Amino acid sequence: RNGSMTKQHVILIGLMGTGKTTVGQELHKRIAYPWVDTDQALESKWGFSIARYFAQYGEEAFRKEETTILKAILDGPPSIITTGGGIVLRQENCEWMRQKGWVIHLTAHPEVLIQRLSHDQSRPLLLGNVADKIWQLIKERKGKYDFADITIDTSKQTIDGVIQEIIREWQ
Ligand code: S3P
Repeated sequence: RNGSMTKQHVILIGLMGTGKTTVGQELHKRIAYPWVDTDQALESKWGFSIARYFAQYGEEAFRKEETTILKAILDGPPSIITTGGGIVLRQENCEWMRQKGWVIHLTAHPEVLIQRLSHDQSRPLLLGNVADKIWQLIKERKGKYDFADITIDTSKQTIDGVIQEIIREWQ
């Protein structure tokens, strides 16, 4: 189904706050794949936070690092891969993910995203007015996640429902 069995990784993409990390973590309990997060992998490589990296080196440098780590993870053993929301900004990343994994796009209503992220301190792209920044990202990223194999709205159902849907489609 969906060609999922012939591809090795299960990859979660989507805007910040759509639930990639939460879903990845839960999925990891249900299927026997290791779970790797691109942001976490970068933070452990550097020994400091994404926020600090952005402040020190800027977004372009971050995108380069993100691309390198994605490629390394995709070349590794079959995994559940959770990605930073901006991973889709590079076309090559989208092509690799499609080739090497079954790609799940998580979405949520803008109001839900704003609510989930309103007190977030860790995301450099949200500094300032969170609601304005989220709306801006929704506009800028429109269509960028559409290459995914399936799309699931996480504001319409419980986490359990989301996991069940993924497992049903994956098998
Ligand atoms: C970003 C999303 C973040 C993180 C960085 C940039 C983005 O990851 O990679 O702050 O450009 O959308 P999450 O989607 O896990 O929050």
